[in-house]
Amino acid sequence: MPQVKTPEQLFKHELQDMYYAEKTLATTLPKLAQEASDSELSRAFTSHQKETEKHVRNLEKVFEQIGASAQAHPCPGIDGIKKEHDEFMREAEPTTAMRDAFLTGAAARAEHYEIAAYTGLVNQARALGEREAVDLLQENLRQEKEALKKVESISKRLLKETNGTSRRRSSSRSRTKAGASR
Ligand SMILES: [Fe+2]
Ligand SMILES: [Fe+2]
Repeated sequence: MPQVKTPEQLFKHELQDMYYAEKTLATTLPKLAQEASDSELSRAFTSHQKETEKHVRNLEKVFEQIGASAQAHPCPGIDGIKKEHDEFMREAEPTTAMRDAFLTGAAARAEHYEIAAYTGLVNQARALGEREAVDLLQENLRQEKEALKKVESISKRLLKETNGTSRRRSSSRSRTKAGASR
């Protein structure tokens, strides 16, 4: 990793980190769209995938503005979120409903990560007087916040639906138990 001694170098480093994260998400989101059974959730992943491709292009424009080449620097943060997802899918053998609920949580984690990163990048760009970069980064940040809101509202609906089902199941179970003890 090259040394970071100035705010300009730190800004470039964090751009490279986010460039890696966005590229990773751009290739991961189609997989999530396929894994989701709920059609609204699947559509949300597909539409955020298109936004994510735009995020990659916006970052490339920011690189251009600071006179740097667009380079990705591995981002263990996003790799960790992805790894958690991959392990769950491989090992947890979730039901369809639990898989969808899990996917909303995994997506929310990624969006929170992006929101934190872009909030920092916007502040850095502003402090450096990079006005066009501020606008581009803010556009990405806005869409991450929208994506988070969307996934949180889907999550609430899914939880309501699955809790309704399990409550009905457990109340019929206690009725059976009561019948057996009589
Ligand atoms: Fe993004
Ligand atoms: Fe995102």
